[in-house]
Amino acid sequence: MRAMYPEEDLGPAEERMALFLIQFWGGPRSYSERRGHPRLRLRHAPFRVDRAAHDAWLHHMRTALDTLHLPAPIEQQLWNSLTTTAAVMINTPEDPA
Ligand code: HEM
Repeated sequence: MRAMYPEEDLGPAEERMALFLIQFWGGPRSYSERRGHPRLRLRHAPFRVDRAAHDAWLHHMRTALDTLHLPAPIEQQLWNSLTTTAAVMINTPEDPA
């Protein structure tokens, strides 16, 4: 995953993700105030998001989620939204065999 992230300092990417998730989950709209409309598929277009990247991304989100020990219904809702959104983000189909 690290190779996909263009900036040497991951801090700004972390902040963009945090602000997006805060907004996505009904919190303050600071993400859009700074970045405009999320247009996530468009913003991912420069990157090769294939099945392997999708799986790696979700793996790390799963690990992060597990550290939170959220109540089951909230954990389930969060995980569902992450898996659904991640599937939509795939922009590079596998090469046909
Ligand atoms: C499916 C696998 C995914 C991969 C491989 C991936 C990869 C990336 C990469 C390489 C960036 C650029 C780093 C940066 O400069 O911020 C990025 C940005 C971002 N991604 Fe993903 N991403 C994935 C899925 C998702 C999903 C599911 C979400 C939302 C739930 C998401 C939300 C974001 C946001 C908010 C940004 C920053 C956009 C901006 O304001 O520029 N990503 N992602």
